[in-house]
Amino acid sequence: MLLTSVVSVLLAASSTAWGNTATPSFDTASANGNGTSTFSGNVTNCPGYTLQNLSHNEHGITASLSLAGDACNAFGKDIANLTIEVVYETESRLHVHIYDTAKNQFTIPDTVVARPAPPTQSHTTTSDLEFSYDASPFAFWITRRSQPDAMPLFDTRTRSLPATPIASTPAGGSSVNLDGFELVFEDQYLQIASALPKGTNVYGLGEVIASSGFRRDIGADPGENGTLHAFWASDMGDPVDQSMYGSHPIYMEHRYDESTGTSSTNGVLLLSSNAMDVVLTTPPDSNVSLIEYRVIGGTLDFYFFAGPTAGSVIEQYGALIGYPLWQPAWGFGFHLCRWGYHNISETREVVKAMRAADIPLETQWNDIDLFQVFRDFTSDPVSFPGDEMREFIAELASNHQHYIPIVDAAVAVTANSTDVYDTYTSGVEQDVWIKNPDGSMYIGQVWPGYTGFPDWFAPNTEAWWTQAFQNWSDSGITFDGIWLDMNELSTFCFYSCGTGANLSDIQPYVGATSVEGWPECYNDTLSGKSGNMTVNGTSTNSCASGSDSSSIGPQKRMSIVNRNGRGVGAGDEPGVDLNSPPYAVHNSYGGLNLHTIATNATHAGGYAELDVHSMWGLMEEKATHHAVQTVLPGKRPFLISRSTFPSSGKWTGHWLGDNNSTWQNMYYSIQGILQFQLYQIPMVGPDTCGFNRNADEELCNRWMMMSAFVPFYRNHNTYGALSQEPYRWDSVANASRIAIAARYSMLPYWYTLFANSSTAGTPPVRALWYEFPNEPELFAVDKQWLIGSDILVTPVLEPGATTVDAIFPGRGNVTWRDWWTHAAVNATSGGTTTLPAPISTINAHIRDGSALLLHQEPAYTIYETRLGPYALLVSLSAAGGAFGTAYVDDGESYPPGDSRTLTFVANPGQFRIQSEGAYDVAQKLETITVLGVAQKPSGVSVQGRAVGNFTYLPATEELVLSNLGLDLNEGATVNWH
Ligand SMILES: *[C@@H]1O[C@H](CO)[C@@H](O)[C@H](O)[C@H]1NC(C)=O
Ligand SMILES: *[C@@H]1O[C@H](CO)[C@@H](O)[C@H](O)[C@H]1NC(C)=O
Ligand SMILES: *[C@@H]1O[C@H](CO)[C@@H](O)[C@H](O)[C@H]1NC(C)=O
Repeated sequence: MLLTSVVSVLLAASSTAWGNTATPSFDTASANGNGTSTFSGNVTNCPGYTLQNLSHNEHGITASLSLAGDACNAFGKDIANLTIEVVYETESRLHVHIYDTAKNQFTIPDTVVARPAPPTQSHTTTSDLEFSYDASPFAFWITRRSQPDAMPLFDTRTRSLPATPIASTPAGGSSVNLDGFELVFEDQYLQIASALPKGTNVYGLGEVIASSGFRRDIGADPGENGTLHAFWASDMGDPVDQSMYGSHPIYMEHRYDESTGTSSTNGVLLLSSNAMDVVLTTPPDSNVSLIEYRVIGGTLDFYFFAGPTAGSVIEQYGALIGYPLWQPAWGFGFHLCRWGYHNISETREVVKAMRAADIPLETQWNDIDLFQVFRDFTSDPVSFPGDEMREFIAELASNHQHYIPIVDAAVAVTANSTDVYDTYTSGVEQDVWIKNPDGSMYIGQVWPGYTGFPDWFAPNTEAWWTQAFQNWSDSGITFDGIWLDMNELSTFCFYSCGTGANLSDIQPYVGATSVEGWPECYNDTLSGKSGNMTVNGTSTNSCASGSDSSSIGPQKRMSIVNRNGRGVGAGDEPGVDLNSPPYAVHNSYGGLNLHTIATNATHAGGYAELDVHSMWGLMEEKATHHAVQTVLPGKRPFLISRSTFPSSGKWTGHWLGDNNSTWQNMYYSIQGILQFQLYQIPMVGPDTCGFNRNADEELCNRWMMMSAFVPFYRNHNTYGALSQEPYRWDSVANASRIAIAARYSMLPYWYTLFANSSTAGTPPVRALWYEFPNEPELFAVDKQWLIGSDILVTPVLEPGATTVDAIFPGRGNVTWRDWWTHAAVNATSGGTTTLPAPISTINAHIRDGSALLLHQEPAYTIYETRLGPYALLVSLSAAGGAFGTAYVDDGESYPPGDSRTLTFVANPGQFRIQSEGAYDVAQKLETITVLGVAQKPSGVSVQGRAVGNFTYLPATEELVLSNLGLDLNEGATVNWH
């Protein structure tokens, strides 16, 4: 949950409610474990390595690297003997792993991130990528086989580059001097840098809200400062340019060659869970830019993806870490939540009010209000009694609606034997907890007071967790999906504050009562505390006078298990400083031990939190996914989680965390959605209308419309803030009905995109340049996006606007047609086109050459919508062609059962449907709308039979065939002339 309340918790720590809890100091200096900076290492004289003993094998090479001189011991001890393994894993994926030959350093176990089986055939001479090296000093570079003379995709021959400051201000405020680019491999510090083309386009390296936008700041252009991003899972609200909930050390680079007008895209993953800084910078007077990794443990485990397109890089990454889970169809419905639905009656009232306002509600959620004294897997016996909850959820189910409750990461510790809490006591019996180094239980402090934290490395934890879900469901909380929060791991006290403490000293959290803050341009003095923008029919937007000039944009240890001949890392290495690693990673809290469990916390097998911290969320997601599958057998688990890591998308979706009810945060959510497509967690979306602060009518109107066009669609609000359900303001209710109807009609398209994601890793949501890679004016666009390849979305992101500026990709060679009116846009080639965008509208456009399967009658629920007939929307290219596919199945079975794939092909004067697969599609195709039919046809036939009553609309060049009753289990042909 939110940072603001966390801060209030900390402020409250000295008050009686919190007893004698230690209060951490939030030192903002760049700092190590607890806020003490020891940033004194000097890498200038590090000796580098020499490659020896090279041997070739069927799949690549292996060699040893030995330290080429005296150890520099900059931030730890130099490791004298390394091994490098290069494996050509596929035609497009190359694995380069540099590790300590003794295998003491941490590497991610296969049980956490499963890696693909070794290659069965050799790719060494055919791969798109080639590995080259210098032996002394050792350096390597990766080139495309097809472009041996081009600048390498990755090139570590950087030792002679001049020292360079990075001007950006990382968390903590200090600028960083890059005083050497030599390969350094120490127990607590690994450094490697690669040269990149100056000013190239880099994306990824998150989770982050980058002030530069979706494209990262590489420091090459005037006004750019470069980027320093820290990787360390943190419960930090939604900060700008800082580490936050998830760690995804992958980037995608897009190279555009101005002289030829061609481009190619590649990807690089450092598969590491260790805390690290990654720096993007361009040294002064340099003709290259740089990426530098500074990691405080583990090994250098790199994967290179050849692309050569954005889509193929993302797919190749998915093939490595695993494709996203299958989503149930209902998961695409509208979700409603808030912190502060105090009891079951309030929750019921909300469901009723949604129905009364005729705004589709698919899934009702509850936050921690549900719990008895904030304990996981409970429901408060007074405000959310189990029997009534069972009835309430059954009622939802009978209306084809769903229910999702929250689960927090931390589990309450009970203070005495009369306080019965089975989740805790059974956890003690089954020994599921993270420990202190001496083997005692690690006890932190979260909402319920003192808490323990499940250790996913312990053998009984997953079974214990599954039982907890089963018991909860049996008790009346018959959930359909699960929301995982606080899993960075968040804790409010310093170190294991409960160990040895009187456990009844601290009490559960008491919520804040009111919330301050409004969206930009809402003047609560003028308009009151209602959030209404319209008073007596007049807009009270205080910025609306004439211009749309709002500011958008930047603002002693446990027993050790030896796994597969590998050591456990920092947990078992003599001389490693677990509490205060010498190199201070610039994470958002300025200390690795702040607001999370301590880096010396110990996991089963002897793993140290220092090594495995950022994977806790992933491991919880995997366990929860399995638990939900056990409780709801045969159904696709629907999970939304906060802290993620590579491969989380196999188990869960993600929401973008605790944002603010501001226009700027609405804009920032777009880059979040785009990033998570790259991270292979495509089911993603923001807290619509904003979490912290109060929303107003205009913001909520725009945001409800915008989020209808992103994968995960949930309105969620904080405790004490003004209510922001879509029925709260008439204009928002109206806008929501319009947008949700469009979304539900598009469901077959979304569903198909997600099937492609689960089977091939293809991103459902795309930046414009993915589809138009040779149009540099698109490389930084992040105020618009594409759903698949065919729908362009252009939301209003500013208060007081009545128009919006859009760029239409294709430079005039693509016709974009309005989703609502079907009119072709007269777009400016390669430039900005201003579109009307009054309140309660959103611009969406269909690309030409596309064919989209739609639901003809969007209804109140996804179930009812799916019972209705289908429609087809075809937008012809200038040459009269179109293509599309649709994947159809029952929308819920796991593993997926029978399916049917429909293929749509248009040629001049003809449209054909091919149908393949075993799934029986019961609903008929009733309407085919073809856009771009230049003249009224003199005759139309379906399956060779003439159709008399077709409609032709000359203004939109639109041919409409209705009441067709076509069976989609068979193919069909439509001709017109
Ligand atoms: C922080 O770390 C330093 C160095 O390890 C140690 O001396 C100091 O006591 C620690 N401070 C706290 C509050 O634990
Ligand atoms: C690092 O070492 C180099 C070479 O000995 C020296 O010139 C430089 O001053 C040192 N830097 C710091 C910050 O100590
Ligand atoms: C490194 O390898 C060399 C050659 O095998 C060996 O002599 C040396 O003892 C090793 N050093 C360490 C620290 O293991």
